[in-house]
Amino acid sequence: MEFSAPRGTKDILPEEILNWKRIEEISRTIFRIYGYEEISTPIFEETSLFTRSIGEVTDIVQKQMLNLEAKEPRLSLRPEATASVARAYIEHSFHKKQGLTKLFYIGPMFRSERPQKGRLREFHHIGVEAIGVTNPFLDAEAISLCAGLLKNIGVEDFLLKINSLGCKQDKERLAKVLKELLEKKVNSLCVDCQNRFHKNIFRILDCKNQGCREIVNKIDLKGKFLCADCQKYFNQVLGALKQLNIPFEVSNQLVRGLDYYTHTVFEISHSSLGSQDALGAGGRYNNLVKDLGGPDLGAVGFALGFERVLMAAKSKENIKNPLTEVFIATLGEKAFEAGFNLLDKIRKSGVSSQIDFEAASLKSQMRQANNLKAKLVVLIGDEELKNNSVVLKDMVSGNQENISLENLIEVVKKRL
Ligand code: HAM
Repeated sequence: MEFSAPRGTKDILPEEILNWKRIEEISRTIFRIYGYEEISTPIFEETSLFTRSIGEVTDIVQKQMLNLEAKEPRLSLRPEATASVARAYIEHSFHKKQGLTKLFYIGPMFRSERPQKGRLREFHHIGVEAIGVTNPFLDAEAISLCAGLLKNIGVEDFLLKINSLGCKQDKERLAKVLKELLEKKVNSLCVDCQNRFHKNIFRILDCKNQGCREIVNKIDLKGKFLCADCQKYFNQVLGALKQLNIPFEVSNQLVRGLDYYTHTVFEISHSSLGSQDALGAGGRYNNLVKDLGGPDLGAVGFALGFERVLMAAKSKENIKNPLTEVFIATLGEKAFEAGFNLLDKIRKSGVSSQIDFEAASLKSQMRQANNLKAKLVVLIGDEELKNNSVVLKDMVSGNQENISLENLIEVVKKRL
């Protein structure tokens, strides 16, 4: 085999695609119920959009971005869509049209990570962004939407971890607190984290290195950086989640790998997924729209990793659409021509139908009908041609009946 799909990418084959469509359909239905409209943004954007929003010193920007070879402006395949949606929101002046804009997207994202189970270079997000309002109940609504969506898809027993990073000043305070707590341990951190200590200290909290984890796990950040207003806001989010009966675990060390977050951050994980256990994540990003040149408006959103959701979904069996309802078996050239005309009529009546183009034996045509799981077979031979009729065979009961061509569509619809 000369070519295979690039490392970290996957073909989605016909037998898998029905499950994808099922999840897409459930998502669209639920998004509509929650008042979200669909948006589709380009697969690539100016690199600086991602550097400015996700953050210069993040793994996504430093290690995982797939850059295109275009010269100016520099372009990158999108590693996520929050930045793109915020860019589109500003570009199309959504804030002039409505107070709260709720947008959803389903599409491919690209990160040049080392591929492993649940970690791809091309993967898909089901995501939402609610831009224009800062209200703890909207944060709770986004989390409830995320959890409800997972349940409807058939994912159970997931764990929701939540934290608050507070406002801009709180984040600065958090950075200072972390500096003080980690100062004496810098030399015991991994090389990346020693660099992060100076450039973006939050990222030390996400480090997967065992040594760093041990140091980080001993840090207690509770009550050390949130201002009274932000603590109140966070308590309201937690209160609303309790009201909605959504179980959660507060995790002081959850900071997320993207710099744009403020206030609420959350992550949903599933134990069946192994080391890449995050099914989805999100949070509030109150400064992003302003930082990208738009109005000073709050926003909240999340994205689920489509492939990981598929892995964790309980109902793994594919829903088989009967692709072929009627199979037309013909004997002889004239019969084929008549069958070919009939094929068109049956399809135009909304019924799926196939014919054998290779003029194989009747036995082989019946085998094909079986393989395609056709419910009905229309048989046409010389005799039928003469009488302007066909034989209609019910593949489940085995019953056969002679039907005039004139009545065929009507009878087929009754028998299906
Ligand atoms: P994220 O945590 O980077 O957040 O990605 C969200 C989800 O995408 C992850 O929880 C995971 O399920 C999936 N994912 C990420 N990387 C990969 C990969 N290499 N292979 C397979 N799946 C992956 C965001 O991207 C934010 N934009 C979420 C958000 C929306 N925050 C606010 N609004």
